[in-house]
Amino acid sequence: MKRAKIGGLGYYVPSRIVTNDDLAKLMNTSDEWIQERTGIKERRYIVPGEDTGANMAAKASRIAIERAGISPDDIDFIILGTLSPDMDFPGTGVLLQRELGLHNKGIGALDIRNQCSGFVYGLSIADQFIRTGMYKNILLVGVEIHSTGLEFNDRGRHISVIFGDGAGAAVIQVSDDEDKGILSTHLHADGSQAEELCTLNPGSVNSPRLAPEMIEDGSIFPHMNGRLVFKYAVQKFPEVIGEALTATGYKPEDIDLLIPHQANLRISEFVRRSLNLPEEKMYNNIQWYGNTTAASVPIALTEAWEKGLIKDNDLVCLAAFGSGFTWASALIRW
Ligand code: ACO
Repeated sequence: MKRAKIGGLGYYVPSRIVTNDDLAKLMNTSDEWIQERTGIKERRYIVPGEDTGANMAAKASRIAIERAGISPDDIDFIILGTLSPDMDFPGTGVLLQRELGLHNKGIGALDIRNQCSGFVYGLSIADQFIRTGMYKNILLVGVEIHSTGLEFNDRGRHISVIFGDGAGAAVIQVSDDEDKGILSTHLHADGSQAEELCTLNPGSVNSPRLAPEMIEDGSIFPHMNGRLVFKYAVQKFPEVIGEALTATGYKPEDIDLLIPHQANLRISEFVRRSLNLPEEKMYNNIQWYGNTTAASVPIALTEAWEKGLIKDNDLVCLAAFGSGFTWASALIRW
């Protein structure tokens, strides 16, 4: 069976930079607290009226498509991961299809959730479609707009300082070289922890779905049990990376570059140390973009590639953990 590869990468982040000091004007926080606990220095927020999830996704996609050496018309399927769709339904996947002018072709557009693990879950889905020969050029996108759904006050400060907006895209194609491409993907979830990192409302279990008291009690904003998330993340990241290595017969020292979901610099550092990887073998950019959930892995992967940190034949490991809880990994021979 043919292998799938990442043929092109692109990302887009909004132009509006929001520093920790900017947030300290809205809530009782400080640059020192945020940097010490999360590593974040600044993040990007959309410019309302200018950026949407679909057009950020399209901007990232056009770059990835060009770098893959194809035209938008060659895309035969779209997979899009987001927890912050432009509207409740339909999903942002069809909006991206329209934005790219592909609606007349009628190609399929699959929306997935899976939060911070969305891109790696999507990569696994794309990998299956390519290997079975169902599609030739799949556009895989992670996009997120957090800034319009955060609580910028003391009640929401432990969450609102963490997240940022952005989009990352990849074109998944057949690999010409059977030794290169996606070697394995591993997907997991533990639904017993769903409420530990979630946005409860508006939810379809409530009638009506949205009521003024939900705004007052803050349940329309994300809820996070930060300590529990930390505890699980530092366990599940190394576990799922280890699973990918075992499945392919590699050891941690064989990894040339690890790109973890940019959850929190302290989590990433913990994972790096537990795998005994030197600093230069892990790429982080949470300092500049915050946590962009489904977009974080493709943005970091694209940036690392643009900086020349990924070379031909390198062993690249992607790993993610997030709400659900969900976690996933992918090992790629570049
Ligand atoms: N600024 C200043 N003080 C704050 C802020 C803030 N933004 N947020 C919380 N605090 C305060 C708290 O109110 C508390 O004050 P108190 O001691 O007077 O009660 C104090 O800081 C410590 O609060 P904790 O919640 O106990 O802080 P903790 O040390 O656990 O750090 C954090 C919080 C950074 C969220 C930590 O739990 C963590 O790193 N968790 C991992 C979660 C994570 O990174 N999630 C990323 C998103 S999910 C994902 O992508 C997987």
